[in-house]
Amino acid sequence: MPGKTFYLTTPIYYVNDAPHIGHAYTTVAGDVLTRWHRQRGERVWFLTGTDEHGEKVLRSAEANGMAPQEWCDRLVESAWKPVLRTIDAANDDFIRTTEPRHTTRVRAFLQGLYDAGQIYEDLYEGPYCVHCEEFKLPGDLKDGEGEYAGQLVCAIHGRPVEQLSERNWFFPLSKYADRLLAHYEEHPEAVEPASARNEVLSFIRGGLTDLSISRSSFDWGIPVPWDPAQVVYVWFDALLNYATAVGLGDTEGPGVEQYATTFPADVHLVGKDILRFHAVIWPAMLMAAGQPLPRKVFAHGWLLVGGEKMSKSKLTGIAPATVVDHFGSDAFRYYFLRAIQFGSDGSFSWEDMSARYTAELANGFGNLASRVAAMVVRYFDGELPAATDPGPAEDVVRDSAARAVATADEKIGALDFSGGINAVWELVDVLNGYLTEQAPWQLAKNDVDRARLATVLWTAAEGLRVLAVLLNPVMPKACAALWDSLGAQPVLGDLAAQPVADASRWGQLPAGLTVTKGAVLFPRLED
Ligand code: ME8
Ligand code: MG
Repeated sequence: MPGKTFYLTTPIYYVNDAPHIGHAYTTVAGDVLTRWHRQRGERVWFLTGTDEHGEKVLRSAEANGMAPQEWCDRLVESAWKPVLRTIDAANDDFIRTTEPRHTTRVRAFLQGLYDAGQIYEDLYEGPYCVHCEEFKLPGDLKDGEGEYAGQLVCAIHGRPVEQLSERNWFFPLSKYADRLLAHYEEHPEAVEPASARNEVLSFIRGGLTDLSISRSSFDWGIPVPWDPAQVVYVWFDALLNYATAVGLGDTEGPGVEQYATTFPADVHLVGKDILRFHAVIWPAMLMAAGQPLPRKVFAHGWLLVGGEKMSKSKLTGIAPATVVDHFGSDAFRYYFLRAIQFGSDGSFSWEDMSARYTAELANGFGNLASRVAAMVVRYFDGELPAATDPGPAEDVVRDSAARAVATADEKIGALDFSGGINAVWELVDVLNGYLTEQAPWQLAKNDVDRARLATVLWTAAEGLRVLAVLLNPVMPKACAALWDSLGAQPVLGDLAAQPVADASRWGQLPAGLTVTKGAVLFPRLED
């Protein structure tokens, strides 16, 4: 059987409304990381999808006068799947929790736990936040403000919680506290960044309470196999998507091999709002079923609006298309990953994004690419010349390329996207400085400088080759255009097939390639 596939997941998003740039942020990060791993030559599986059951989705369907299934179908087809094209995400699968491949496997999993004596019946009494779909502890609540003054509200959503009193089925989460702590002692890399790890450890050390895993007051969910009057708690249902999508429990058919080679996830990417579900409940569920645990849960920060989490529930979301229509998908992908340290909160502003677009993409990278191509066209009729007399200035470029490759690979591999992009940008800056110093437009004035001119333009083009390879996971459209303009495809093959490890091997662009001016990578912004 082939080796382990690099398996990355995003959260499956609630279809209570259309996506905003916060959801796109997680998916873009996952897309960049998986494209990076593909260019490392690994087999990769990138899963995303939608979380469709539960009270929150049911209520939004009702508020819109639709049956929940119809509501989900519409929103998934009209909003959640299209946003993947908007942001240029290349996911391998899209799971919906209302699909039979999911619901049947969830039922089988739950039945297995029940048969093994891992599920018991009890009374749940306490607060519940429908926006989080979470049973809350007293410490999770705060005093309400404004219209909710005098009430206790959810600390994340600022909305009142509901007092539930239901007979439910329970999962003995408390039993797993010691094993979870031992696991995280042994695998410090299993929750990142450090702030997330600390939060998880102190949460577990504070003591875990058993988890109600069913609800009886509404029916929009997967029926509990032995008690159809109850539906499976939406989080218990949703977390299992990471396993059901790759064949959990299959004993025949393609799921058997897929599960064996794919599960567990190498990275569950999540926002910090849903860290505990992924780093406490989910591994405990897997322990209970004797399944392997995720290698890493990475909790990134929030995109903020007015200092608060951008949110569907609060209607503060900006649609990804609004930003992409103006800047393009490449700039969208680049901006959020470069401007915000992955793991920290950040805010979006048109001004900041416009400034970075113009300085870094249009003037920094785009202009570099078009100047070099234009000069090869003008001075060598579009035929890439050979570098016949490389010297110290060329060594500086080559060394910078080697550093960019090594540092970017290390940083992006560790989910430090901004660190990785910064490392690549050092090469952008070095190349721009190199052109300024070598001034090929001056060299072009004298025939005696012809060899120098050829060397400078070849070196700059070779530097662009390295940039195209390294930036392709982040900005696939611009890099495809650059690859095209360099005329690299016929000799080196597809851009996405260029291995990162080989990117800094100097001298890959052969003289004689047909360089063309190509499209402007980052057009000037319209007001
Ligand atoms: O929690 N900033 O779905 P959800 C950054 N269905 N990321 C944000 C964000 C923001 N302001 N807002 C949302 C759910 N996100 C569950 C998940 S998984 C088994 C079930 C991103 O629609 C971020 O990844 O509320 C966050 O964790 C996720 O969307 C929550 O999406
Ligand atoms: Mg949410």
